[in-house]
Amino acid sequence: MGTEVDYAREIEELKRSMNAVILAHYYQESEVQDVADFVGDSLALAQAAERTQADVIVFCGVHFMAETAKILNPSRQVLLPDLKAGCSLSDRCPPAAFKVFKEKHPGAFVVSYVNSSAAVKAMSDVICTSSNAVKIVNQVPRDRQILFAPDQHLGRHVMKQTGRDMVLWPGSCIVHEIFSEKKLVELKVLHPDAEVVAHPECEAPVLRHADFIGSTKGILDHVIKSPKEKFIVVTEAGILHQMKKGAPHKHFIPAPPDNGCACNECPYMRLNTMEKLWKCMKERTPELTMPEDLREAARAPLQLMLEWSR
Ligand code: 13P
Ligand code: SF4
Repeated sequence: MGTEVDYAREIEELKRSMNAVILAHYYQESEVQDVADFVGDSLALAQAAERTQADVIVFCGVHFMAETAKILNPSRQVLLPDLKAGCSLSDRCPPAAFKVFKEKHPGAFVVSYVNSSAAVKAMSDVICTSSNAVKIVNQVPRDRQILFAPDQHLGRHVMKQTGRDMVLWPGSCIVHEIFSEKKLVELKVLHPDAEVVAHPECEAPVLRHADFIGSTKGILDHVIKSPKEKFIVVTEAGILHQMKKGAPHKHFIPAPPDNGCACNECPYMRLNTMEKLWKCMKERTPELTMPEDLREAARAPLQLMLEWSR
C-alpha cells in the first residue's frame, strides 16, 4: 500500500520554501480554495497578481487568468497546475477570426472580456471582467461604435445596463449556457422564498428570472449581505464553498444544468486538483510563458481596464 501524501501540508511547506503565493478562482474545488492565499473573481485575481511581492504565482484557475497574471507581473514565475485548463469563451474566439471581425468594423472601439487569449487582448482597446464591464463600457467615448467579444450574453446584459449599442462576437460559456430555464422556474415554484442570483454569462431567458445579476464576487457579497435566507445560485457550483463559509446559517440551492447533473461544474476549472497543484509546485512546471512583444501588446488594454475600474 502506498503512503498517502498530505497535500495541504506539503503545499504549505512548498509555499514557504518557494516564496510562492497561491491565487485561486471561486470555481476551484473546495480543497484548492482552502490552501490558497487569495480567492477571488477574475478582476480581484488580476489585481492581486499585479501587486504580489512573491517570487512565484501559482495560479489555480484557467489559462487566460494565469496569462493575465503573467502580463501584469512579468518578473514572477507563473505556474498553473494544468496547462490544458482552457475556457470555451477564449477557445471559440481564435485570434485570426477576431482580426477579420475587427477589420469589418474599422474605427470601432474594441472591448474584450478578460476570458480571451493574450492575442485577442492585444488587438483590443480595453479589457473588462464581469464585475466591471458596465463601468468600462460607460467610459468608452460616446461617438465610437463598440465591438464586444467574446461573450454575447454578457454583452447583451451590458447593452441593457448601459443603453450602448454594441456589435457582439457570438461566443458563449459552455457552463453558463446550459442552465435550464424550465428547471429554474420549477425550483422557483418549489422555493418561492428564495432569491435567484445569477452570473451575466447566462442566457437572457435565464437571466430574466434573476433577482440579482453579478460577477462571482458580486454574487458572493450579495448573498452574505442580503436579509434573505435562501438563494438559488445560477453559476458554477464551486462558489457555494465560500457562500457556506460566509453565511453558514443560509441555504444555497445550486441551479441545475440541462444535462441531467444536479449542479454545474466547469470542466476546465476542475482539471486543477490538489495532486496537480502539489506536483506543479514541487517540479516548478507547467510554467506559463509568452513572447515579450505579445505580453507588451496585451498589457496596454489590461492596464487601461485597471485604471478605468478605480
Ligand atoms: P468572474 O469574473 O465573475 O469570476 O467570472 C469568471 C468566469 O470565468 C465566469 O465563468
Ligand atoms: Fe470559461 Fe465558462 Fe469555465 Fe468560466 S465557467 S472558465 S467562462 S468555460
